[in-house]
Amino acid sequence: MKNPKSILITGANSGIGEALAKEYAGQGVTLYLSGRNLERLDKVKTACEVMGATVLTKIINVTDEIKMSEWIKECGALDLVIANAGISSGGNVPIKDIFDVNVNGVFHTVEPALIGMSKRGQGQIAIISSIAGYRGLPSSPAYSTSKVAVKAYGEALRGLYHDQGIEINVICPGFVRSRITDKNNFKMPFFMEAEKAAKIIRKGLANNKRLITFPWQMRIIMGSLVRFMPEFLLGKILRGLPIKK
Ligand SMILES: NC(=O)c1ccc[n+]([C@@H]2O[C@H](COP(=O)([O-])OP(=O)(O)OC[C@H]3O[C@@H](n4cnc5c(N)ncnc54)[C@H](OP(=O)(O)O)[C@@H]3O)[C@@H](O)[C@H]2O)c1
Repeated sequence: MKNPKSILITGANSGIGEALAKEYAGQGVTLYLSGRNLERLDKVKTACEVMGATVLTKIINVTDEIKMSEWIKECGALDLVIANAGISSGGNVPIKDIFDVNVNGVFHTVEPALIGMSKRGQGQIAIISSIAGYRGLPSSPAYSTSKVAVKAYGEALRGLYHDQGIEINVICPGFVRSRITDKNNFKMPFFMEAEKAAKIIRKGLANNKRLITFPWQMRIIMGSLVRFMPEFLLGKILRGLPIKK
C-alpha cells in the first residue's frame, strides 16, 4: 500500500516501532500506537502530533488476546497493521514468556486485523521477524525460534490472502538501535539506526515485498549461508556467534 492513512503499530514507544510511527506520521494520517510504558508512549504521541498526525494511544499487553481483539476492533478500518512488539532472550527470559510476546502477541494482533480487512477486501499486515528468523540459532534458541515461527506464519498468510486483496509482508531486520540492542555487549555487524530501518521498511511495504530483510549485507550473508552452505560448515559458523546473555 503506497499511502496508508490509518496505521496500527504495536510496541510503538521505543526502537523500531517508535521510528515507524514517526516515519508514517503526517497530515491526514491516523496512528493507533500501543505499548506498556505510558511515559514513553506519550512522548512518541506528542512527536507524531507535531508532524501533523492524529494519534490514539493504548496501554495494552500484546499477550492479552481478548483486550487486543477488542482494541483492534475499536480502531475500525485499518489500512496497515504492524505487529512489531517483541522481546529478546537477554537476561534468561523464560522461553514461554518469549513465545507469549513474540509469537502469541503477533497472533493476537494479526488475527483480529484480518477479520476487518477480509470484510473490506483490502489492507496490509506487516510482521516483524528478524534476521534470526532465517533459522534456529544456537546463540538465542528461544528468540530465534520465535522469529522463525512468525516468519513462517507471515509467509503462509501471504499465500492464503493473496486473492483477497490483503498484502502480508515479513520484515527481517539485522541489528538496529533499540532498547533490545542497547543491552548487547558484543560487536554488531552492519549496525543501523532505527530511523534508517523505518525508511527501508516503509519502502518495502509500499512495494509489497514478500520479505524485507536488511541491511542488504545481512540479507546476502544470511540468505546464502542458509541456502547454499553445507550444514556441517554452517553449524560451525553459527556455534561461533556470541550467546545473547
Ligand atoms: N533491534 C533489533 O536489532 C531487532 C532486530 C530484529 C528484530 N527486531 C524486532 O523488532 C521488534 C521491535 O523491537 P526493538 O528492537 O525496537 O526493541 P525495543 O526498543 O525494546 O521495542 C520493543 C517494543 O515492544 C513493546 N513490547 C514489548 N513487550 C510487550 C508486550 N508484552 N506488550 C506490548 N508491548 C510490548 C515495547 O513496549 P513496552 O516496553 O512499553 O512494553 C516496545 O515498544 C521486536 O519484535 C524485535 O524482536 C529487532
